[in-house]
Amino acid sequence: MAETKLLFHLSDIHFGLEDNRALDWVEREIAERQPDAVAITGDLTMRARPAEFAAAEKWIHALKAPVTVEPGNHDLPNYYLPSRYLNPLGRFEAFRDVVEKRIELPGIALVPLNTNVPAQPRLNWSKGWVSEQALSDCLDQIDALAKGTRALVCVHHPLRETGTQGTALTRNGEKALDALAQRGVLGVLSGHVHDAFDIMEQTPHGPVRMIGAGTLSKRIRSTPPSFNELTWDGEELHVTVRNLEGIDTPDMMIDDVPVDAMPPRGEGEPVAPIGRVPRTDPPAY
Ligand SMILES: [Fe+2]
Ligand SMILES: [Fe+2]
Repeated sequence: MAETKLLFHLSDIHFGLEDNRALDWVEREIAERQPDAVAITGDLTMRARPAEFAAAEKWIHALKAPVTVEPGNHDLPNYYLPSRYLNPLGRFEAFRDVVEKRIELPGIALVPLNTNVPAQPRLNWSKGWVSEQALSDCLDQIDALAKGTRALVCVHHPLRETGTQGTALTRNGEKALDALAQRGVLGVLSGHVHDAFDIMEQTPHGPVRMIGAGTLSKRIRSTPPSFNELTWDGEELHVTVRNLEGIDTPDMMIDDVPVDAMPPRGEGEPVAPIGRVPRTDPPAY
């Protein structure tokens, strides 16, 4: 049996409104536990400002572990700017080496799938969109993995959409999930929701596990700042939510991912474990 692999899944740090206590804690955990890799699933910044990217670059390059970063909707330059179209990842320049990076370890790999597009034919551009090119790039990378290596696909937006055009969370999300089911991926790691979840999503070609990490920013929703700790022993992927202690949200101080936690199905439907009354303010992640 392959040696057990330890992965940390962080998300939505939102430099500019980061929680420094949470970041100091995670940095210490990475130094002490020495994960085999760290996946950061987007929204590194609040407004894609140069100073926010500089802080992100400094923090990420100081981590003592291999890192891969997915861009989030907050990381693209603002609407209508030429740079959003011509060079959407231009502000990642100082740490382009870790952005959308595939990390292949013995038996398991982190494979990127971009869910951002420069423009969308709908009002809310914060939502996800899996382009044909992005999906094809991701599938090619999965197909190129060594035989027997299982893929964990890293995205920013959860790959889920509703049936109505106007409220789709991630356009082409279902199509992407179905393609990933056919490749037998181990799971899809996402951010954007700011609360952790671990669910199985059904597709025509079987279920796909969707794992969401919470936030390490001050923009918390139902849960304290957190990250996910994943272990892979070659047979089972175990996910534990690590919550920052001492945060006064006793109703949601969970030790593990609630089995019934769900990402939102559309605008105005925030994530919440079933049976809990969700907040009614519309999400803006
Ligand atoms: Fe987001
Ligand atoms: Fe976010």
